[in-house]
Amino acid sequence: MELGRLNHVGIATPSIERSVALYRDLLGASRIHAPFDLPAQGVRVCFVDAPNSQIELIEPLGDSSALHGFLAKNPQGGQHHVCFEVPDIHAAKAEIEAKGAKVLGEPRIGAHGTLVIFVHPKDMGGVLVELMETPREAH
Ligand code: CO
Repeated sequence: MELGRLNHVGIATPSIERSVALYRDLLGASRIHAPFDLPAQGVRVCFVDAPNSQIELIEPLGDSSALHGFLAKNPQGGQHHVCFEVPDIHAAKAEIEAKGAKVLGEPRIGAHGTLVIFVHPKDMGGVLVELMETPREAH
């Protein structure tokens, strides 16, 4: 496999509304998308556009959201994951597993409507890495 485009940086936050205000008022972000729920991943999501990539603000959705644990350790929120594009998610999963790294769960639909996987941070130098299949219409 070949490392693809950085699609977004995932930022966990206890409040999308407060984080949006920071990116807008402090950093001058002007393209802020409408937040939406992603129940399959237990998160509410809001994308903020930068010229070359996106920030994905994620807030816990529901009591069982895995983000509650992250926010317990990082009450202000913080950088949660980085997401790179790959052409074929199943091929990427097979190759990463063949190289001995742990992939968390099966490919599932992510915030951009394409299949995603997560590589365990213990096998990626402490960084949670999301891989997403490149949206077909985007390239
Ligand atoms: Co993401």
